Amino acid sequence: MTNQHVGHQDIVNFAQEKVNLPKEKADEYRGQARRLREKLEGYLGEHPDFTLKKMMLSGSLAKGTALRSLNDIDVACYISGASAPYDVRKLLDYLAEKLRTAFPNFSPDQVKPNTYSVTVSFMGTGLDVDIVPILYDGDPLWYGNLVSQDDGSFLSTCIPRHLEFIKKRKQAHETDFAQIARLIKFWARKMKQERDGFRLKSFMIELILAHLSDTGADFSNYPEALQHFFTYAARSNIRERIVFNDYYEPSTVGALTGQVQIIDPVNAKNNVSQLYTAAEADAIVEAALDAGDAIDAALMAPTKKETVRYWQKVFGSSFQV
Ligand SMILES: Nc1ncnc2c1ncn2[C@@H]1O[C@H](COP(=O)(O)OP(=O)(O)OP(=O)(O)O)[C@@H](O)[C@H]1O
Ligand SMILES: [Mg+2]
Repeated sequence: MTNQHVGHQDIVNFAQEKVNLPKEKADEYRGQARRLREKLEGYLGEHPDFTLKKMMLSGSLAKGTALRSLNDIDVACYISGASAPYDVRKLLDYLAEKLRTAFPNFSPDQVKPNTYSVTVSFMGTGLDVDIVPILYDGDPLWYGNLVSQDDGSFLSTCIPRHLEFIKKRKQAHETDFAQIARLIKFWARKMKQERDGFRLKSFMIELILAHLSDTGADFSNYPEALQHFFTYAARSNIRERIVFNDYYEPSTVGALTGQVQIIDPVNAKNNVSQLYTAAEADAIVEAALDAGDAIDAALMAPTKKETVRYWQKVFGSSFQV
């Protein structure tokens, strides 16, 4: 698949200029999270019975899939002990209070519970750090009950294994796996802005791409790799179960009710797309069909102007060559 007007290298350039979080920014934000983590480790050293056991960078900054539009730093915080409440609202108040204890140089109003996480805001520079609680009972692999950022339910899962899982796919494709993930996330962000009620979670995008990777997809030509994703979404109607064999036998996943079934690679009982309705799944398929058609049209367009216009249907008006 080649096009004389817009090709692989143009997508690479667009990604670098408009899509990706610049490396200096990523390093700065990771440093911010690291300093908080070290502060907690210092406090724990002096108070070994403290119930906040560990902080860990967990979202796109940890996976290397962050967009330029990143607006907070995701950190997971492991909370142990019988005294930790199971009610989410109370748990967030509890977490905020413990964080204020461990970080006494932050004023109390810099540590605020919100819907499903606690936000630590930094005055002046840096981004806010969004701290998501994980109820933890000492598992050596760091499995625990993560508070879902979608509905506040508890999900049994394992952040370090998620990072290891993504790292494995990144290693199979050098920079291409993470780059295609960021490009698809950028597209999904545009769809969310344009289409009422559209949703497609970043973790789902990464897991679909991991499935394509595991079944032999090549990501080295970006127009083609994008088409692999959109074609898969359209062909599968996003209703084919996706399951991985890294950490459990796929046959152990039983009957599930979810319309979309993308199973957590670290827990056979956790459907990552449990909350997606049939209408939401259909909207993803429709958006993917539109994007696939636009890329096909771009690849065949006779002029540069038309080619760019089709790519803009996928990535928006910031796409320029
Ligand atoms: N339903 C879920 N089940 C288990 N773990 C989840 C689930 N949703 C999110 N996670 C965990 O939270 C992490 C961050 O979520 P997600 O991938 O949606 O956001 P992100 O990578 O930070 O992307 P964004 O750039 O959109 O913020 C995932 O990598 C995964 O470890
Ligand atoms: Mg995030």
